[in-house]
Amino acid sequence: MKLLGLETSCDETAAAVVDHGDSILSSVVSSQIELHSRYGGVVPEVASRQHLLSIMPVIERAFQQAGVAWEDLDGVAVTSGPGLAGSLLVGVNFAKAIALARGLPLIGVNHLEAHIYANWLRESLEAPKPELAFPLVCLVASGGHSDIFLMKGHGQFTLVGQTRDDAAGEAFDKASRILGLGYPGGPAIEKKAREGDPSALRLPRSRLKGTDDFSFSGLKTALWRMVEDGLVAGTSTGGDRFSVADAAAGFQEAVAEVLAEKTAEAAQRYRATQVLMAGGVAANGRLRQLMVRKSPVPVSFPRPELCTDNAAMIAACGAYRLQAGVISGWDLDAVPNLRIT
Ligand code: KG4
Ligand code: ZN
Repeated sequence: MKLLGLETSCDETAAAVVDHGDSILSSVVSSQIELHSRYGGVVPEVASRQHLLSIMPVIERAFQQAGVAWEDLDGVAVTSGPGLAGSLLVGVNFAKAIALARGLPLIGVNHLEAHIYANWLRESLEAPKPELAFPLVCLVASGGHSDIFLMKGHGQFTLVGQTRDDAAGEAFDKASRILGLGYPGGPAIEKKAREGDPSALRLPRSRLKGTDDFSFSGLKTALWRMVEDGLVAGTSTGGDRFSVADAAAGFQEAVAEVLAEKTAEAAQRYRATQVLMAGGVAANGRLRQLMVRKSPVPVSFPRPELCTDNAAMIAACGAYRLQAGVISGWDLDAVPNLRIT
């Protein structure tokens, strides 16, 4: 069973062909980072226009790499939300057109659920199948979300914790801007942090005891204040107490520690058999390391390119929905604030 996956929820135009719901035949991602970086963040109008230009060439490359043609497909899965309305619409309408023209089932997929399904992906049909037994505790940390889900079966999610302010990825992006490290912030901070000492400066950790919720805005403000007070060398205000590398390392350490500790606590409380990590922030090496160290159960994470936005995860998630008999009607719409239910 070969599914075409399409992803256009934010600033990545992606297409992938996935066999059997888990085996990646191809995964092509066209990033718009360069287009948006001069603005320091994603400009929605620019993003949707670029998706329109990129989507067909990206699909053609995905077919070429997979060695498949239109007639080999068994369905089309597409992100229908959450995300930017204009960007989502490009993918949803393209998927509808393909499904209608080829007589294929159309499967609308929740982007966050798909991030989690990246944990089931494997590089080929010959690679071993990931064995993940329920119940699972899933940490989804991306540019827009920091959520903990309890997953009791395929498609069965309960949201147990979420951020009360900034998402973890958003916090990385803002911290990077404060430190003058550019966009997107996560990879920039991680790279800079390698040269720094995470214990040089101590930033606050908000643990929100008694809940599985997160809060990162206090941490961001504390970092901003240190820069404003002229404590960080090489930033706009100068200073000489700490280097940018130390500030980046201290910030990364604080975010990773809280994400890992709270997810580990949830895994313990819900008696999960494993922890799954997902979303762009799950690409962070220090977070992966701390999660493995603190978790009472084994930890699964996709390789970094499958943590950030891609279409292989959309096809994987779509395949499980299709197997369960869940397909979308022609009234499938883009839902910018779509939730996992
Ligand atoms: O999942 P994703 O690609 O897109 C969304 O669905 O939002 O996540 C993007 C976010 C950005 O905020 C980016 O800074 C962050 O993930 N990110 C990272 C790393 N790579 C991407 N954060 C920390 N460390 C990384 N290596
Ligand atoms: Zn994402």
